Amino acid sequence: MKKLRAAVLGATGTVGQRICHMLRDHPWFEVSNLTGGASAGKLYGEAVNWLLPTSIPEKLVDMSIEPSKPEKVVDADFVFSALPSGVAWEIEPVFAGAGFAVVSNASAFRMSLDVPLVVPEVNADHIELIEHQRLNRGWDGFLSTDPNCSTINFVLALKPLYDAFTIKKVIVTTMQAVSGAGYPGVPSLSIIDNVIPYIEREEEKMQNETQKILGKLKDGAVENAPFNVAAACNRIPVVDGHLETVYIEVEEEIDLNEAREKLRNFRGTSKDLELPTAPEKPILVTEEADRPQTRLDRMAGSVPGMSVTVGRLRHGIDKRSMQLVVLGHNTIRGAAGATIQLAELLYAKGWISR
Ligand SMILES: NC(=O)c1ccc[n+]([C@@H]2O[C@H](COP(=O)([O-])OP(=O)(O)OC[C@H]3O[C@@H](n4cnc5c(N)ncnc54)[C@H](OP(=O)(O)O)[C@@H]3O)[C@@H](O)[C@H]2O)c1
Repeated sequence: MKKLRAAVLGATGTVGQRICHMLRDHPWFEVSNLTGGASAGKLYGEAVNWLLPTSIPEKLVDMSIEPSKPEKVVDADFVFSALPSGVAWEIEPVFAGAGFAVVSNASAFRMSLDVPLVVPEVNADHIELIEHQRLNRGWDGFLSTDPNCSTINFVLALKPLYDAFTIKKVIVTTMQAVSGAGYPGVPSLSIIDNVIPYIEREEEKMQNETQKILGKLKDGAVENAPFNVAAACNRIPVVDGHLETVYIEVEEEIDLNEAREKLRNFRGTSKDLELPTAPEKPILVTEEADRPQTRLDRMAGSVPGMSVTVGRLRHGIDKRSMQLVVLGHNTIRGAAGATIQLAELLYAKGWISR
């Protein structure tokens, strides 16, 4: 099979690097172009501050970084965006208007009514919004987005429980890695020996994005899931991995064995498509009293870093509530891997092609 050529916008950043790394042996896609901001005009090997414990993919070392403009990536079949949100707001529509399929990590368009916000296992059907987006905006290309890094882990664990029970409300508290803030991110003197109980706009993102992702597609729009989420987001001194404690209140009495089985057996809406970056089990359930742990479990799964681990499942204040702990890798399942998997879904469904 001839691989599809992908341009990576924001290729030098934390997420852009991960995308480049995860595409090095990808069976369907290859990196054809790299773009940046201040680094444009330099060779990737010179400009990138490579942060992963592997070498830079050989093919990319001498590739030039281009300005983030459609006319600079004409050979690409589609575009991954790992741009900061403020920049994405201006640049992504220019690419979509120029005919490119844009698969984005940025938050800029996640909540736009005609832009799909997708986790392939949870709401693959939402990609149909693209049709309405094209009609609304008159574009040949389109915008598609994946969720915020803490939302992805959370919503994956919620999905089988949402299907099994009538959820009334959810309270989530996160302990989030510093790599979630990009590079250089949080200054070392602010985070070493410390916990920061605030991450700008993160709580709103978890609340709003969850309702959209778990919402139903009806007449060309998403009807939000009918329960509220209260989120409290904290930055802690770990490099990668977001750990979240979750409290869920439902209408019916919860059989914990049933809940555990629903989580364990969850394969999701895209399971038959055999997407290369989709793990065999999106959710791993641990029975150990002190797991999941960030350092030990963040790379779990058949595709390392793409599964979330759920543990400490127990009743809450009564039998109509439950508590659990969710852990996921923020730059893999929460960002680069999520966009790659979304691009795979779009390709499998015919939305992107050569
Ligand atoms: N880190 C995570 O865990 C995570 C998770 C989910 C989603 N996200 C989202 O993913 C996106 C990227 O995050 P990140 O953590 O990788 O950020 P980052 O490390 O700060 O990297 C930003 C990238 O964007 C480029 N850039 C900056 N200003 C630009 C401009 N004016 N024009 C063109 N390119 C420009 C930078 O290129 P230069 O080197 O040339 O400046 C760099 O490649 C953000 O929208 C973020 O919210 C991040």
